[in-house]
Amino acid sequence: MTAAVSLAGLRIVVSAGPTFEDIDPVRFIGNRSSGKMGFAIAAAAARRGAQVVLVAGPVHLDTPASVQRIDVRSATQLRDAVIAALPADVYIGAAAVADYAPRAIAGNKIKKSADILTLELVRTPDTLAEVSASPSRPRCVVGFAAETENIEAHARGKLQKKNLDLIAANRVGVAGSGFESDDNALTVYSRDGVQALGPAPKTQLADELLTLIAERLHA
Ligand code: CTP
Ligand code: CA
Repeated sequence: MTAAVSLAGLRIVVSAGPTFEDIDPVRFIGNRSSGKMGFAIAAAAARRGAQVVLVAGPVHLDTPASVQRIDVRSATQLRDAVIAALPADVYIGAAAVADYAPRAIAGNKIKKSADILTLELVRTPDTLAEVSASPSRPRCVVGFAAETENIEAHARGKLQKKNLDLIAANRVGVAGSGFESDDNALTVYSRDGVQALGPAPKTQLADELLTLIAERLHA
């Protein structure tokens, strides 16, 4: 194995975990995400000497050594924390952000009455797209895509639409990979290439993804 490429002197912002969109004081809409992948990336980047800001949704994970952690709950809070952490050299959007949130959060617990309850949901801000389009765009913007089907087409579509440098795609909904697991397999797409990583522990995948990022930054 070759020595890990140093990331010393670089500022890297990572988002991780799910977001929870509150419905009332006791209920929320959330995503299945353990946060393990994003936390592993933050830990690996800090080990390589980067200055790391980790914007974390609600997860039960320890803060990696030498990482500045900012805890958030909702997609809007995640967006505000990420934007406030810019400028940066790299943004890695590993969070599983809720796409929709209730239009309003009920002040009191919603009581059951009718047989059918309709919730009105509104789109949340797309942090990854906003970071990539911002005047202080990081030199390298990396997204994730958890897909159940047509992985390459969906991932490449997001790469192009959000003007990303890299997108790490993985298949979800199959046993032994994705959400809660410690292992995963990623296919990383760029405009000019594709690279398969794993199956491997998320800690190893994090390091291999950082190598791809470092190579692009040093190219
Ligand atoms: N993302 C984000 N903000 C959102 C939604 C997604 O920053 N409101 C980021 C995720 O962190 C991830 C990437 O966008 O890096 C792709 O997320 P994904 O859910 O796969 O794609 P979407 O663009 O939301 O499209 P869809 O859910 O319809 O597949
Ligand atoms: Ca989504």
